[in-house]
Amino acid sequence: MAPTRAGAALPSAALLLLVPLAVSSAGLSGYFGTKSRYEEVNPHLVRDPLSLGAAAGGSRLPASCAPLQLRALLRHGTRYPTAGQIRRLGELHARLLRRPAAAAAAACPAAADLAAWQMWYEESLDGRLAPQGRRDMEHLARRLAARFPALFAARRRLVLASSSKHRCLQSGAAFRRGLGPSLSLGSDEVEVEVNDSLMRFFDRCAKFVALVEENDAAMCQVNAFKEGPEMRKVLEKVASALCLPVEELNADLVQVAFLTCSYELAIKNVTSPWCSLFSEEDAKVLEYLNDLKQYWKRGYGYDINSRSSCILFQDIFQHLDKAVEESKSSKPISSPLIVQVGHAETLQPLLALMGFFKDDEPLRANNYARQTHRKFRSGRIVPYAANLVFVLYHCDQVKTSKEEYQVQMLLNEKLMSFHHSNETISTYANLKDYYKDILENCHFKQECELPKVNITAIDEL
Ligand SMILES: *[C@@H]1O[C@H](CO)[C@@H](O)[C@H](O)[C@H]1NC(C)=O
Ligand SMILES: *[C@@H]1O[C@H](CO)[C@@H](O)[C@H](O)[C@H]1NC(C)=O
Ligand SMILES: *[C@@H]1O[C@H](CO)[C@@H](O)[C@H](O)[C@H]1NC(C)=O
Ligand SMILES: *[C@@H]1O[C@H](CO)[C@@H](O)[C@H](O)[C@H]1NC(C)=O
Repeated sequence: MAPTRAGAALPSAALLLLVPLAVSSAGLSGYFGTKSRYEEVNPHLVRDPLSLGAAAGGSRLPASCAPLQLRALLRHGTRYPTAGQIRRLGELHARLLRRPAAAAAAACPAAADLAAWQMWYEESLDGRLAPQGRRDMEHLARRLAARFPALFAARRRLVLASSSKHRCLQSGAAFRRGLGPSLSLGSDEVEVEVNDSLMRFFDRCAKFVALVEENDAAMCQVNAFKEGPEMRKVLEKVASALCLPVEELNADLVQVAFLTCSYELAIKNVTSPWCSLFSEEDAKVLEYLNDLKQYWKRGYGYDINSRSSCILFQDIFQHLDKAVEESKSSKPISSPLIVQVGHAETLQPLLALMGFFKDDEPLRANNYARQTHRKFRSGRIVPYAANLVFVLYHCDQVKTSKEEYQVQMLLNEKLMSFHHSNETISTYANLKDYYKDILENCHFKQECELPKVNITAIDEL
């Protein structure tokens, strides 16, 4: 089927970036984990950021179904490194600058290249949205509008909420701009409404904060991998390329060098000299380190990671319920479009709660090789501008002989298969039935209460 393309009917202001992006940074860009560009999961966007890809036609429903409500949960777009990462990069760079230049240049061309590299990141950039991040959001908005023209039609009501973080608010505003001026924002006229209870539930979950976030022991698998044989090999290679004693390096510094390679590609579209320190094998090891952290802090590692997202899960179903009721009583749908901007840390726990990307075996420090083909790869799940979309449809019963209300889920604009059916569409009733236990028994307040007994040992988590 011929790829369809968004934007034919839209203003041409954002047609700026039709120039192809670098396809890879020396073959490493598939391993950047949560620092991956959105184009890694949708490579067709490199050539045309408004293309819906070849799969667009296949995701269309029979003509007898009409979308009633769309709920999009977004991760903010491409961002700058955090202040901590910038500080560590500054330290590493300063260490390379202190070396005697003449001796270094001959024996260690990599070190000389990096010493000549301009350290342009300032701590004040601290995780803010990069210009590329604005474009990520504007383009995503236009593609979604093209995919669901009826829902994004003029004067439909859009509810736009965001985490309080600057990069999310800016992403929300960019998404809004991408839609153009025709959508109404509802009666309150607030452009982006902040809701951290929904978008940063992890911060407000006392049990998660005490037992995972602030508990070093909870990251024991991550810390063990940093000291393990795979990372040791990477460390030795990097130390040798930089002509530094291996004692002067550690996993965190090597990770910062790798992150810089990923940031330079995502933010500036350049293959930076930092990338030359790593082979594809090294990149796989560093990707695993990133995935391990996501797994234990945001994924299946501990139940509280995903249980803390119940508040968001229930909110999604409350709005779906409401839309179904309004439809049944032939009322207009009060919230046809709900767009909420958060973090990788917002999406990952929710996907885990719903059982997606779960491997048979947990990710551990000692099973790197066995996890080569793991499902849990953060870069495929939550790259920059990651988006999880729930679409509720009303279907004409006579023509489909199916139930009236149906749901689809798209992750990063690709249909997901539901666990209960292995199909990409489910009746709303079956979906609710499958998640009955979570809907009835998972309550944020109870889940997140700190246990009365003083638990610090992680095996009790
Ligand atoms: C990104 O870099 C590639 C390769 O250098 C170049 O062809 C392309 O035009 C750049 N894209 C943008 C959007 O600047
Ligand atoms: C956030 O969303 C929840 C669930 O919809 C709602 O109960 C709460 O009032 C909202 N908070 C703010 C500050 O808008
Ligand atoms: C799910 O469906 C896909 C294609 O429709 C098939 O390849 C796969 O084996 C199925 N998985 C299960 C668990 O049935
Ligand atoms: C829990 O125990 C640890 C170590 O025994 C102690 O330092 C901490 O203050 C205790 N916390 C509470 C809330 O009692």
